[in-house]
Amino acid sequence: MCVCVCVCVCVCVCVCVCYPCVCVCVCVCYPLRYRLPTSLIPLSYNITLWPHLSPDPDSGLYLFTGESQHSVRRLYHRKHWDTLHNIRTMQKSGYARFYAKTELRCDGFVPSITATWLQPKQQYLVVQLNGVLTQGETYLLYTEFTGELADDLAGLYRSEYEEDGVRRIVASSQMHPTHARKTFPCFDEPAMKAVFNMTLIHSPGTTALSNDAVNTTIDGIAVTRTTFEPTKKMSTYLLAIVISDYTHLTDTQGDILLRIWARKKALEQGQGSYARSVTRPVLEFLQFYSNISYPLRKLDQIALPDFYYGAMENWGLVTYRENKLLYSPLTSSSRNKQSTATIIAHELAHMWFGNLVTLRWWNEVWLNEGFASYVSYLAADYFQPTWGMKDQFVLQKTHRAFAVDALTSSHPLSSNEDSILLPEQISQQFDTISYSKAVEANNLYLPHRVHDIMNRWVLQMGFPVVIIDTATGKVTQKHFLLDADYEWLIPIQWMKSGEVQRPSRPSPPPPVRHVNLEMRSGGLWILANINVTGYYRVNYDPGNWERLLAQLIRDHQVIPLTNRAQLVDDAFNLARAQLVSASLALRTTSYLYAETEYIPWQTALNNFQYYSLMLDQTEVYHPMQEYMKKLVTPLYLYFKNMTSDWIQIPQRHTDQYNQVNAIQMACRTGITHCQKLTSTWFKQWMDNPHHNLIHPHLRDAVYCSAIASGNKEEWEFGWAQFKNTSVASEANQLMSALACTGNTQLLKRYLSYTLEPSMIRRQDAAFVIGAVASNSLGQELAWNFVRLQWDYMFTQYGMGSFNFASIIDEVTARFSTPAHLQQLEDFVSEHHATGFGSATLAVEQALERTRANIKWLQQNKQEILDWFTMYAFV
Ligand SMILES: *[C@@H]1O[C@H](CO)[C@@H](O)[C@H](O)[C@H]1NC(C)=O
Ligand SMILES: *[C@@H]1O[C@H](CO)[C@@H](O)[C@H](O)[C@H]1NC(C)=O
Ligand SMILES: *[C@@H]1O[C@H](CO)[C@@H](O)[C@H](O)[C@H]1NC(C)=O
Ligand SMILES: *[C@@H]1O[C@H](CO)[C@@H](O)[C@H](O)[C@H]1NC(C)=O
Ligand SMILES: *[C@@H]1O[C@H](CO)[C@@H](O)[C@H](O)[C@H]1NC(C)=O
Ligand SMILES: *[C@@H]1O[C@H](CO)[C@@H](O)[C@H](O)[C@H]1NC(C)=O
Ligand SMILES: *[C@@H]1O[C@H](CO)[C@@H](O)[C@H](O)[C@H]1NC(C)=O
Ligand SMILES: [Zn+2]
Repeated sequence: MCVCVCVCVCVCVCVCVCYPCVCVCVCVCYPLRYRLPTSLIPLSYNITLWPHLSPDPDSGLYLFTGESQHSVRRLYHRKHWDTLHNIRTMQKSGYARFYAKTELRCDGFVPSITATWLQPKQQYLVVQLNGVLTQGETYLLYTEFTGELADDLAGLYRSEYEEDGVRRIVASSQMHPTHARKTFPCFDEPAMKAVFNMTLIHSPGTTALSNDAVNTTIDGIAVTRTTFEPTKKMSTYLLAIVISDYTHLTDTQGDILLRIWARKKALEQGQGSYARSVTRPVLEFLQFYSNISYPLRKLDQIALPDFYYGAMENWGLVTYRENKLLYSPLTSSSRNKQSTATIIAHELAHMWFGNLVTLRWWNEVWLNEGFASYVSYLAADYFQPTWGMKDQFVLQKTHRAFAVDALTSSHPLSSNEDSILLPEQISQQFDTISYSKAVEANNLYLPHRVHDIMNRWVLQMGFPVVIIDTATGKVTQKHFLLDADYEWLIPIQWMKSGEVQRPSRPSPPPPVRHVNLEMRSGGLWILANINVTGYYRVNYDPGNWERLLAQLIRDHQVIPLTNRAQLVDDAFNLARAQLVSASLALRTTSYLYAETEYIPWQTALNNFQYYSLMLDQTEVYHPMQEYMKKLVTPLYLYFKNMTSDWIQIPQRHTDQYNQVNAIQMACRTGITHCQKLTSTWFKQWMDNPHHNLIHPHLRDAVYCSAIASGNKEEWEFGWAQFKNTSVASEANQLMSALACTGNTQLLKRYLSYTLEPSMIRRQDAAFVIGAVASNSLGQELAWNFVRLQWDYMFTQYGMGSFNFASIIDEVTARFSTPAHLQQLEDFVSEHHATGFGSATLAVEQALERTRANIKWLQQNKQEILDWFTMYAFV
């Protein structure tokens, strides 16, 4: 791919024969480079940063000042200028900025700097010299700078919270992927690793943290100066800085100091203890698994009040959203607990996969994220063996990646380096596919298989579907995407009517083209991809589908748990690709009447989610609700019984999850017993706000149901509790429940709060907009809101403030009519000039998805209506 923007240098030659002169201009066009030249490389940085936690009296802005000295080495000869990354951070005012001074220093002769300028498009700081640098020589480049300590969640930024009525400020950082350049001039590419000597200047009484341990602290009268040990040689995106008045919990693993940092009050309430108890075994597991010791002396993990991502794996100082790291046994659910455990495992896995071994360029993000996700499930399984993490892996990772991967704008895991250059292209790399299409377990230790198999699906978009025809014994494979004809090499495992056929070893795969099925008469079926260990879908001939469906109804336990889920998931997705009928897909769910396990239920609910998005506003809604109600009633009663009328909580982790599903579905489909139950519980809480007796596991479901069936009073109460709670997970539960209301005035008000950080934190704005959009009554409101506010959000808020990609994704999720498509196309052309930044790919996907949805509705609506009508009213 080529980048078609040029920098033109023109040389004009004037020839004066006689008056007038004739001038000839020759223009040489250099392509605009986004990658730094490799002629100059960084060796080390000495950085001093001073975030000022009160506004500058002149400008009224919060600022930070700093100086940095880089030692750089000239690798090969280059002309008179050099570049490094740097961007403006002043957004709202034209505050003159940024580097006050730049100097080049060296022991011997050194050319002087004749000019420096910013090249905004590439985010370069260009330094022009009056001579050349000597090859192989090391130079020192000194800069002084001032930047804005904005509340924009990117680079070095400001975060605020209130404790005991006092407003407190935290200076924290998010350098990944390309925000280090927003903090100080640097070589901001992952492969340009260097050693960092960090010094932070801060108020006495506050604590300064960075990647490594503290070397010295000098307490002055006005300020404290904390110097850190030199870091390992590492990438700029892994740097971290936090200045706060937090407290901490301590633990050790071998010689490694482990600390959990959070607001004082949160730790007093015991919210850090779970994270503390998880960290040591996870670190043990990872060192054992990788057989490489954790290379630093300390590992800090910190919960920040404002944070763009869920968490960030900065080396030695991992940063989290509060609700991800903190867990309150009194108010958080088992889902919160699992989420805390797995996210810690994921981030710590990055200390090896990512930090120690780093991607060369951002096109290889999938490698980092895929491995970290995969290993996090293993680590969680190691210390919580009863959670069924390996089964959940199939559900949460494989199915999600399948779903996104089937879109044509899905990207192959590994892209060409040159196709990902702009900062917004880089941030788009962090999507579902990179996180979920993780490398399959069996193949991790088998290099030749990694080569033969993995290269194929790593470099290709999509995934294979295996087609088994029991009538002829023929097995074929094809690409699940549109018409691309592609051969995959997959080892296939199958079982026949109960008896398992296992290849003697996980052998290297000759492509299975023909199996001797020996299907004699009778109800014998074949089932492939046992326990869903392979990344592929399976389709069968109609006869075998019938026999499998009959087996599910007769005795579903014969089919392994994850395969019950897979049959449902495959059928629904094959139906979307028109390889089987929608009725067949729906029929795979009928057996759920007798199913009590979480994995198949959740899989079915995920697939019904699409039906609900497409059909909620059509005549299919009512019969579909009736069917769901019938399906979920036995499950609801099963848990009612198991919990002795909702007094106890199920023992098994996955039962706890499925109990929540049962309540959510029962209330949503109108089982009055459920609606009364949740409203009564909520009412009791409203009557006595200091005693919330609703069990933490059930709060998500109960709050939403009660606010949905209630009105203004319930909503206002929920809002007041949201503003008052000091537990992040509780705040999140309330935040999503507030979007459940059926009152459109309240939904509008709620949307407007997303532009007021004092009401809804910036980190949560995208979540709230998405939650309102997911409410059938709020979808239109959210879309209108986004259209109206797009320019404002896009230009007034920094690039880190909103997750624009997720906003676009969520507000367009229900789009399924030509009118929607028109609106979306209008929106795209209207904002063409401003652009969509990191949402560019999401906009493309939304257009593609809307077209696919329109087609899907045309092709399937009648059949689905007929099917639900038949089942709902028999
Ligand atoms: C880091 O700082 C220490 C002392 O402050 C110094 O001895 C060391 O050389 C520095 N390291 C680098 C890579 O500049
Ligand atoms: C960093 O500071 C230390 C101590 O002042 C000095 O020895 C070292 O050379 C400096 N390194 C750079 C890159 O400026
Ligand atoms: C702190 O840095 C100094 C050099 O400035 C070094 O001599 C000393 O060993 C370091 N302290 C620790 C605890 O590493
Ligand atoms: C790596 O493996 C060797 C041999 O099994 C073992 O002795 C060593 O402790 C392991 N190292 C780590 C860091 O686990
Ligand atoms: C499938 O998983 C189940 C439960 O985890 C296990 O008992 C069974 O042996 C597995 N089957 C195969 C063929 O791996
Ligand atoms: C729960 O089910 C068991 C048998 O499945 C039954 O004996 C018991 O009475 C039921 N309990 C309640 C409270 O319905
Ligand atoms: C707000 O929370 C505090 C404790 O965090 C509690 O004392 C107070 O009563 C709460 N206010 C309301 C209205 O619930
Ligand atoms: Zn990650």
